[in-house]
Amino acid sequence: MRLTEYAASEIRLGDRGYQIYVGAGLSGRLGEIVATSKPDATGCVVVTSEPIDRLYGEAVAASLGGFNPRTFVVPDGEEAKEWENAGTLLGRFLDAGLDRNGVVVALGGGAVGDLAGFAASIYMRGVAVVQVPTTLLGMVDSGIGGKTAVNHVKGKNMIGSFHQPVAVVADSLLLRSLPIREVRSGLAEVVKYGVIADETLFRYVEENTKRLLGLDQKCMSHVIGRCASIKTKYVEEDERDDKGVRAALNYGHTLGHAAEKLASPKLRHGEAVSIGMMYAVELAIGMGLMDPEEAQAQRRVLEGLSLPTKLPALEADELIRYMRRDKKSEEGRIRMILPTGIGSPPTLRTVEESKLMEAIEAVT
Ligand SMILES: NC(=O)c1ccc[n+]([C@@H]2O[C@H](COP(=O)([O-])OP(=O)(O)OC[C@H]3O[C@@H](n4cnc5c(N)ncnc54)[C@H](O)[C@@H]3O)[C@@H](O)[C@H]2O)c1
Ligand SMILES: [Zn+2]
Repeated sequence: MRLTEYAASEIRLGDRGYQIYVGAGLSGRLGEIVATSKPDATGCVVVTSEPIDRLYGEAVAASLGGFNPRTFVVPDGEEAKEWENAGTLLGRFLDAGLDRNGVVVALGGGAVGDLAGFAASIYMRGVAVVQVPTTLLGMVDSGIGGKTAVNHVKGKNMIGSFHQPVAVVADSLLLRSLPIREVRSGLAEVVKYGVIADETLFRYVEENTKRLLGLDQKCMSHVIGRCASIKTKYVEEDERDDKGVRAALNYGHTLGHAAEKLASPKLRHGEAVSIGMMYAVELAIGMGLMDPEEAQAQRRVLEGLSLPTKLPALEADELIRYMRRDKKSEEGRIRMILPTGIGSPPTLRTVEESKLMEAIEAVT
């Protein structure tokens, strides 16, 4: 098949625009993708973590053979985003002789993608990066949109940049080695897109739950493609997340982030988002924004995916304290993205802490 047939979505941002390619087996065509996305590429390096390198390093290096790539292995998971790793990586890029027309290929989950994207954004004042996410979360969310970050001891994602990739490559075959819990966690983000923007996608997930959990390639590629198109629109309208448009993608994340942090490491990100979406719906019903029947539909889908819908035992006070620090808060008042229906644009609302307490007690 021609490469263009895999182009699921195009992000139109002038000279920062790019294609998102989605399809089984695409990581075997990275050489062609790099050459198409950056015709003047002089060379490339691959940034990945050890488990991913073991699984896919050789095949990816072979597909980039024409570029004679060097592979740099960084720590796995969130550890990749330790600030010091960025410095180490930049030194390796220099040693490898990567020049201003070099390309960084980020092969891994959101953590590797964020670190490699950040390093690429500051190396020689910015070189091209191709995001090759290997987790479902990476394919539907973190690989797209140009946000890069490393962590600081004082806070997660506190140091970063906006640096759009020159291409995103989502090869659904890579998900076959992903632990099922990570697959489910990624599917929570898919449900999120369904609720905030696409009822058809929502119903599709509901009707194809088993196939998605079984990693049916056709279903998976379809869903990833839809999510990529949805995220594309938000990124095009609000590239730097300063117009309030991209905030909708934060649905389920205000309480989700707090729960993820306080229950750490017991909850995966998507699990926390699943829980966050359930409480957001409860608040939306209380404020007359959403019909209780639609709320039931969300619960059905999440439960069908065996995602948690209820907070684990946590101190409600502590949770609320953490939520006040969310970036959407205004003068210490908690603001949350609340749904208005399945597939309809959500709304940003100030939430009374007493109502939040009630919701925390109501969801069972
Ligand atoms: N830049 C953004 O817009 C954005 C958006 C959302 C999240 N993020 C960031 O993404 C990170 C989380 O990303 P994540 O959920 O992908 O987790 P992750 O990158 O930590 O990966 C999770 C685990 O899955 C393993 N793994 C990855 N792909 C695999 C595969 N194909 N087979 C087997 N194992 C595999 C990894 O080795 C790792 O141990 C967080 O740091 C978060 O801040 C960034
Ligand atoms: Zn998320």
